[in-house]
Amino acid sequence: MPDTGLLPEALFQPADAGGRVVVIGLGYVGRPLALEAAASGFEVTGFDLDPVAVAACGETIRATSRARDLPPASTWLICVPTPLDAEGRPDLSAVAAALETCRAHAPHGALVCLVSTCQPGATNGLCRRILERYGRQVGRDIFLAVSPERENPGDPMGGPRRIPRLLGAPDPVSLARARAFWERITDRVITVSAPEVAECAKLLENTYRLVNVALMDELHRAFAAFGVATREVVAAAATKPFGFQPFWPGLGAGGHCIPVDPAYLQMEARRAGAAASLLDAALAANRGRPARVLGAVAQAMDGRLAGRRIRVAGVTYKPGVADLRGAAPVALLQGLSACGVDVSWCDPLIREVPEDLARWPRAATFAEGVPEAIVLGTPHRDFDLARLAEAAPLVFDPFGVLPQDPGGRVRVV
Ligand SMILES: NC(=O)c1ccc[n+]([C@@H]2O[C@H](COP(=O)([O-])OP(=O)(O)OC[C@H]3O[C@@H](n4cnc5c(N)ncnc54)[C@H](O)[C@@H]3O)[C@@H](O)[C@H]2O)c1
Repeated sequence: MPDTGLLPEALFQPADAGGRVVVIGLGYVGRPLALEAAASGFEVTGFDLDPVAVAACGETIRATSRARDLPPASTWLICVPTPLDAEGRPDLSAVAAALETCRAHAPHGALVCLVSTCQPGATNGLCRRILERYGRQVGRDIFLAVSPERENPGDPMGGPRRIPRLLGAPDPVSLARARAFWERITDRVITVSAPEVAECAKLLENTYRLVNVALMDELHRAFAAFGVATREVVAAAATKPFGFQPFWPGLGAGGHCIPVDPAYLQMEARRAGAAASLLDAALAANRGRPARVLGAVAQAMDGRLAGRRIRVAGVTYKPGVADLRGAAPVALLQGLSACGVDVSWCDPLIREVPEDLARWPRAATFAEGVPEAIVLGTPHRDFDLARLAEAAPLVFDPFGVLPQDPGGRVRVV
């Protein structure tokens, strides 16, 4: 342990020995974490600028939108969004704002842990810079760590306790403080030698997914051209007991992580003069996938799309999740609409229709009114795929999951 000028026991007993925790950002990641911390015996306060997110906590934990109501907690978790801006560049403004909240309200000796996905170097760079403004020193007056979230939305095997947590910190005392905290919340904590290792590992996980998803989408077109069923090919390859992990074709990876995180990695790689061309290719292939499916639909419909009644069945970014962020089916709807298609959509998971979907009529079921064509946007578990395959004269399947009909109405695209 380095000579920090503090007694070791003081390091492990911050002012708030009772274990108060503030979770900044109460969205998909922050709220479950806040609940798990509360269930693990911490006194949790959630903080979110959005009163709707605060209200969504109900009675489960104390939550507020007013920074002045925040307690002098010993642990502060940053769970705010890290999206891309309009130009596709990483937008760290929410992380910077959350760090300012920590800097202003976290007491001497508190631990700040970055949970949001950031670029390599963010913890030792941006986070440290903001926390050390006005004379505090990380590792002495305030402690800092990074433990990127690895949740897989919609996965019943997920949740903050079950998914192993990577943890890195700039100094051993911060690491020990963070480890003691996370070990109460999570079954398995894996410490790494530096924050950059945890940051890079998180980005590697999602970059690996993106590159392989993009590869499968591209090969799917090739296999379809050979008249071979992609899913059978993948299942056959997956019988190899080593060196292969199956990925399945689709309409393109959506959501807030897979198509976003690699851009954070690439930004730093570019800065270091080490940009990966394969990453640019995968990002472009993934972004372009809905347009390629649209092209295949147009071709199958003799190039005449204007006025045709086409339905997109399933519009969320993945099956079983009511989340539209970065959803490829929405990009497809936009593309079809721009071609003058009389487009509609259905999705059993969407309760309240957000503004960007309200532009197009919603159908109660994929079969309602018998559209001229259906494109499978998201293969929700609730969909009866055998019925869907017969619900319109033409049914387009970017996933290769529909039963093939002898009449040729199902087109793998
Ligand atoms: N959603 C996932 O499944 C998932 C999985 C792994 C990693 N992540 C990462 O976790 C982070 C959070 O993602 P999310 O999906 O929970 O985002 P989200 O958009 O669902 O929630 C973020 C919340 O933070 C709030 N917020 C924004 N700025 C704030 C500020 N300055 N102070 C207080 N609150 C603020 C927003 O109002 C919002 O409620 C991101 O970096 C994301 O990439 C998400």
